[in-house]
Amino acid sequence: MNTYSKKVAVEQFGRRSNAYAACGTLMDQTDLDTVVGLLDLKGDENVLDVATGTGYLAMALAPHVKWVIGIDITPRMLELAILAAREGGLDNIENLVGDVEHLPFCEPEFDVVSARFSFHHFPAPLESLSEMARVLRPGGRLVIEDMVSSEDAAKSEYQNIMENLRDPSHIKHYRASELEHMMREAGLEVVCRAGGGSDFDLEHWLEMADPPAGNMERIRKMMRASMEGDLSGLNVRVEEGRVVFTYATAIVVARKG
Ligand SMILES: C[S@@+](CC[C@H](N)C(=O)[O-])C[C@H]1O[C@@H](n2cnc3c(N)ncnc32)[C@H](O)[C@@H]1O
Repeated sequence: MNTYSKKVAVEQFGRRSNAYAACGTLMDQTDLDTVVGLLDLKGDENVLDVATGTGYLAMALAPHVKWVIGIDITPRMLELAILAAREGGLDNIENLVGDVEHLPFCEPEFDVVSARFSFHHFPAPLESLSEMARVLRPGGRLVIEDMVSSEDAAKSEYQNIMENLRDPSHIKHYRASELEHMMREAGLEVVCRAGGGSDFDLEHWLEMADPPAGNMERIRKMMRASMEGDLSGLNVRVEEGRVVFTYATAIVVARKG
């Protein structure tokens, strides 16, 4: 199951790497500044950015820390990350192909481990958190930023059905409370959290993942049906003739004791 899910992620992100590199939410500077600000960095940190993708968070962190290692399971995403870091003149980022469940580090050597907008792709969330915690030095911090679903179970399920239809590598958008619970289960202490939101145009969001035409139709129907009673928790609405919705996001910082 895990191997299959990971193959699907590599296929999906390999095929859609350019679309993800151009995604407004991923490159949102205000959001990146919020994550960097929450970490209160001193400049001497070694950071591991897990599922670094095309490297937006790694590049935002690099000027504030000693060294950043970006790791990702999709080689094509890393090719774009390497190009972007070079173009940005950032020479303290190293990018490696790897899987969050098997990080290639023996020692607890990182001051910060981060995972931004990627946790919902990990087929074994608790194992992934434990592995990220393992490579943190005592006192080091883990920061997870991700879209979160409604705390209402039915709305959460409705949203996740659409997400799976759109992107087969999507595992689950967790509730914020679930995310924090899992971080505690992995032996970490939650020290700070912040919330936000990100607006999406439905057609642009569909185009980014490029699902099969039949799935697109089912998602459009579900999104429209969601407007009455907010069935998905996404506040789906029509603005200037276009269907738009809002993702809730959470940034959670936890410390290893
Ligand atoms: C939306 S992108 C991440 C964006 C990036 N963190 C940023 O801030 O710009 C999600 C990434 O998760 C990666 N990914 C999915 N499953 C993974 C796994 N098991 N191990 C490592 N990376 C994984 C995908 O290859 C993809 O590049």
